[in-house]
Amino acid sequence: MQIRDATFLMSNSRVELCPPPTLPEYAFIGRSNVGKSSLINMLTERRGLAKTSSLPGKTQLINHFIINKEWYLVDLPGYGYAKVSKENRVKWARMINFYLRQRENLACVFVLIDSRHSAQAVDLEFMEMLGSEGIPFVMVFTKADKQSGSRTHQNVVEYMQKMSESWDEVPRHFITSAEEKTGREEVLGFITDINQQ
Ligand code: GTP
Ligand code: MG
Repeated sequence: MQIRDATFLMSNSRVELCPPPTLPEYAFIGRSNVGKSSLINMLTERRGLAKTSSLPGKTQLINHFIINKEWYLVDLPGYGYAKVSKENRVKWARMINFYLRQRENLACVFVLIDSRHSAQAVDLEFMEMLGSEGIPFVMVFTKADKQSGSRTHQNVVEYMQKMSESWDEVPRHFITSAEEKTGREEVLGFITDINQQ
């Protein structure tokens, strides 16, 4: 897919205020600092489109972008960041859960997972929730440039094994590096396929 146009539309905390649900929507979620905003910039080839930071907790609202005037891309705040106050964490969880359950044009959620780590309970629980709610999702293993391919593969296999304990069918997965721009064609090709269905 060629990205001819990528435009920031709005940030807000309420699903009712999101853009009209008339186009297919793809949301990017995962733990704080996993690389959601960086992946969005890599996919769209727009360096500063989504705001990134080396400090976790940068993205705090539901951010809508419109791509090629054909589909929405959404940058969400991360989950599982310990340094945020309990009150804020509860507020974010409520906002994200409400968005995921209510957004009727949500075509697929991309759950980002840091490819450096072995399977984490917080990620497995989040995907368990998506699966039980019937929310379509795929997995994206980020920051693959940070270690060897075999180490990444080992962590991916571990996730797939854990997922297959709960589900008959394991979700599709992608391996990406925003640094080395790998996985871009695969992710965009997947979105193209869904948009054409
Ligand atoms: P929050 O909005 O805080 O939840 O974080 P985020 O998931 O949007 O992460 P963000 O894209 O802001 O990236 C966090 C840090 O990881 C930044 O310092 C990025 O430069 C770095 N980073 C993101 N993706 C990659 C990658 O593929 N490779 C490497 N080496 N670093 C990355
Ligand atoms: Mg972010």
